[in-house]
Amino acid sequence: MDCRCSSSRRIEANLFFTFFGLDAIHKKRWEHIKVAAVGNPGLHFATLAGGLPGVSSVMTHYMERKMDKLDIPHIPEFIEMIADTGAGLYGCKASVDLFELTKDDLIEQVKEIITMGEFYGLAAGGQIIFTCRLITGQPKGVVEGLTGRVVEIGFGSGLNVDLYPPRVDRVYAVEPAEVARRLAEKRVEKSSITIQHFGLNGQPIPLASESCDSALSPFTLCTIRDVQRVLTEVHRVMRPGARFHFLERGLSSDRRVARVASNRSSFVSAMAAT
Ligand SMILES: C[S@@+](CC[C@H](N)C(=O)[O-])C[C@H]1O[C@@H](n2cnc3c(N)ncnc32)[C@H](O)[C@@H]1O
Repeated sequence: MDCRCSSSRRIEANLFFTFFGLDAIHKKRWEHIKVAAVGNPGLHFATLAGGLPGVSSVMTHYMERKMDKLDIPHIPEFIEMIADTGAGLYGCKASVDLFELTKDDLIEQVKEIITMGEFYGLAAGGQIIFTCRLITGQPKGVVEGLTGRVVEIGFGSGLNVDLYPPRVDRVYAVEPAEVARRLAEKRVEKSSITIQHFGLNGQPIPLASESCDSALSPFTLCTIRDVQRVLTEVHRVMRPGARFHFLERGLSSDRRVARVASNRSSFVSAMAAT
């Protein structure tokens, strides 16, 4: 649904800006967003050609001219139009922390900086939700080696369901957001693995101590406020020798790496550990 018509139809619309999408609500950047020429399948360019100096600028200029011809507003105007309809604009807390921003760096129309979980809470009861996974295809590695009974923290919309290895028997899905659980329904139904949902937030996990063979947490710890408490619970329900696999994004302690991530010339580092 185009947010611009949502308020005239009395439909509440909220937008969540995360990672590089934050640029669209960043005071200094929203007027200078460029078309990505590398790895952009829509441009039908060879990756190498897209990486040549100036290609991104030329493509951006070309797109801007086309948009002008079609009377399509540029990003700042477009965002202002959306905000004027009463739609809520929210910045992602993990991304704001990652890029070391504050609310002052964002345009004044941004209502709040919230976590993904809080946004799911806002969207609860909504009829339409668009989610876009930032990193595709990559979590395979993080589920490899999981066995037996797995507790998954932040099950979300169940994007990992098709990736569980055959040695996984049962998944205890810890996910507080009703919207996410609803989005997961079809994947859960189709799965040959028994997936049991806990509509809880991992504090506490309603499982006996030492009852799980593995634990999984992809892209979730960054959205949890009381991480210590959740990790203590995960530790409690894991049997001795169980594996905990997690995938996170965070700002590197190496300044050069951090700068590269902040400049977006390379993708945010993700870390998998067992
Ligand atoms: C960024 S999403 C990742 C979802 C999924 N793991 C994925 O990779 O697509 C983070 C998820 O963590 C959930 N979450 C937030 N707080 C939580 C908590 N205290 N315990 C468990 N899950 C939580 C959110 O509702 C959200 O579904």
